Amino acid sequence: IKNILTDTHQRKHSYLRISLTERCNLRCTYCMPSEGVHLSPKSCLMTADEVYEIAKVFVKNGVTKIRLTGGEPLIRKDIHQILEKLASLPINLAITTNAVVVDRFIPVFKRVGIRDVNVSLDSLNERKFKDITRRNYFDRVYTNIFKLLNANFHVKINIVLIKGFNEDEIINFIRLTKDLDVTIRFIEFMPFDGNRWNIDKMVSYQTIMKTVKNYFSERLIVKEKDAPNDTAVHYKIGGYTGRFAIISSVTNPFCDSCNRIRITANGYLKNCLFSATESDLLSPLREGKSIESIIQKSFLLKEKTRGGMNTLEELKNPVLHTRNRSMTIIGG
Ligand code: GTP
Ligand code: 5AD
Ligand code: SF4
Repeated sequence: IKNILTDTHQRKHSYLRISLTERCNLRCTYCMPSEGVHLSPKSCLMTADEVYEIAKVFVKNGVTKIRLTGGEPLIRKDIHQILEKLASLPINLAITTNAVVVDRFIPVFKRVGIRDVNVSLDSLNERKFKDITRRNYFDRVYTNIFKLLNANFHVKINIVLIKGFNEDEIINFIRLTKDLDVTIRFIEFMPFDGNRWNIDKMVSYQTIMKTVKNYFSERLIVKEKDAPNDTAVHYKIGGYTGRFAIISSVTNPFCDSCNRIRITANGYLKNCLFSATESDLLSPLREGKSIESIIQKSFLLKEKTRGGMNTLEELKNPVLHTRNRSMTIIGG
């Protein structure tokens, strides 16, 4: 019998991303519509036990890595309970956070064996940070990144580049890697419901590399090895401690090597970040039914590239974005 997490393009899905909450303590403009989002009633969200039950089904079928996302996963009241439960599974447990409150969680991360912490930070300028997040937490986030590094976590910093806003910070971010053992990842701005995406606001892989080559001499820019299912293409500046990378979902999607599965906070399975169709797992789970056949069906319907938006022209079609959720609810 075929594995239920293999799709018709022979991709095996072993990396599960679970969104723990639809809420966030920041309001990033590229992630959330300015009018806010419609939140699911609490009774429709997965409880800690349900997160664990659903995760167990995926682990039984081949998942080896789970990344927790949100919203902001660390604002969930029962986050400790969720971490402890998931840590009992034979998986690599990781988290993506905005780092506003992450310092309080360093001991529990250590205890449950989390090593990989991805942090969103779009600007090194306090004023710009406030412009994009609509909150005044730059110092906390910046200090917390150092706390994570000092506690020996593998830290990746995610930067969504937006033309005319933070593209002038590319070199400053890379300079951080001179002495810090951190991975700086520049991300092409992607379209989701309500984020007012426009191709002209996106800074492309090509533009980023041009900027880097303008500043550093070519022989200093060293290509690093990428892991088989990486979203990012990695580089290093010769002699520097850390690395930088680019995530190019728009101009150069990496869907051929996709191994990702997503569960939304209200328990829906998304077979792709961009998939418009989702499958409810939580209701059948609550009715005591098996969810494996639903999962298998979903993967047999998985599209080859970006939920069916195979070309850039298709990606530019705004109708297709509004069929998806807003990014803050998907969790990236
Ligand atoms: P690692 O587990 O460290 O490889 O991190 P990651 O890149 O999978 O996850 P993270 O949550 O840090 O997300 C960084 C950026 O990559 C975000 O902008 C995500 O939306 C994007 N991203 C993550 N997974 C996918 C994916 O499956 N497809 C696409 N197109 N983008 C993704
Ligand atoms: N395009 C690309 N990346 C995005 N993220 C949020 N919104 C977008 C978008 N529109 C990123 C955040 C976070 C990660 C989970 O997703 O910066 O680091
Ligand atoms: Fe996988 Fe969809 Fe992301 Fe492509 S866009 S890598 S298919 S989740």
